[in-house]
Amino acid sequence: MPKILDGAEIAAAIKREVAEEVKRLAGQGIRPGLAAVLVGHVPASEIYVRSKVQTCAELGLYSDLIEPSDTVTTEEMLDLVNALNSRDEIDGILIQLPLPKQVEAKALLDAVDPAKDVDGFHPVNAGRLQAGRPALAPCTPAGVIEILKRSNIAIAGQHAVVVGRSDIVGKPAAMLLLNENATVTICHSKTRDLGAITRQADILVAAIGRPGFITPEMVKPGATLIDVGINRITTLEDLEKYFSGDVKRGATFAKRGSTIVGDIHPKTFEIAGAYTPVPGGVGPLTIAMLMANTTRAARMRRELPRQGE
Ligand SMILES: NC(=O)c1ccc[n+]([C@@H]2O[C@H](COP(=O)([O-])OP(=O)(O)OC[C@H]3O[C@@H](n4cnc5c(N)ncnc54)[C@H](OP(=O)(O)O)[C@@H]3O)[C@@H](O)[C@H]2O)c1
Repeated sequence: MPKILDGAEIAAAIKREVAEEVKRLAGQGIRPGLAAVLVGHVPASEIYVRSKVQTCAELGLYSDLIEPSDTVTTEEMLDLVNALNSRDEIDGILIQLPLPKQVEAKALLDAVDPAKDVDGFHPVNAGRLQAGRPALAPCTPAGVIEILKRSNIAIAGQHAVVVGRSDIVGKPAAMLLLNENATVTICHSKTRDLGAITRQADILVAAIGRPGFITPEMVKPGATLIDVGINRITTLEDLEKYFSGDVKRGATFAKRGSTIVGDIHPKTFEIAGAYTPVPGGVGPLTIAMLMANTTRAARMRRELPRQGE
């Protein structure tokens, strides 16, 4: 039977550790703080940001939710970021994407002080990650590494294949795996004979954004499958295509009119050695790692070591 890598459980453990660290820091008069900037009314973004702010409260971090108007300009947003860069009680700045069209997202992300870049999107942090120096790494790929390590899945010497090369997931995931001494192959939409490469993977990370794209004939039996994909399906045809015979999913779909499928076809999990389910795999790690990054940023800015470091 393949091992299910329970992301919710791992995320809960990380959050407990963050809460403990927040308590320790409180003893030194420090309260890690996160500023979350939300523009516009993308329902998914609103849910993510509120849940980030709520998690701050649960773990004892300070948070400030800032909601500029929908018509905000790049210049106004830059002023806001600069103000957050100089506020001492703010250790992490999160700018929820996507931003409205009139705002230049790259200019903003580049304006965030790298020391407060808890999303790990600033080129300075990407460079530090690549150079193997201490860096704030993007939360989702950092969560992937936590899942592997905390599940005692060996990384060193393993062939890790990452499908997807986005700056947010694929590239940093590959870099983090390389830093853990995996042999890493990165694939993308121009890769020829993708299946021949993914079949070599001991650890396969799928970050593609296409429902059920990785199918059983594309993986080596016994491989560890990490599914980063989150794709909502809304038709009965798709339900049948991905979850044929799955009564529980059928019930979820009937209740909500939709369900989530990853980038790996669920049938593929049957031949895995271990896998992250969707939902409940990689997803829960993102917020947990954001909290961990914010606490880490609070320490790093003040040059405080982590307990045990
Ligand atoms: N769990 C979480 O918290 C979390 C966080 C972030 C993202 N996600 C999910 O992860 C997935 C990926 O997100 P992303 O932001 O990295 O997406 P993205 O920016 O759209 O990148 C997708 C990557 O997949 C590659 N790709 C597309 N079609 C392909 C094909 N046919 N064969 C091989 N590679 C292909 C693209 O290649 P090219 O570069 O050549 O175009 C690109 O590098 C999405 O489902 C997203 O919802 C989840």
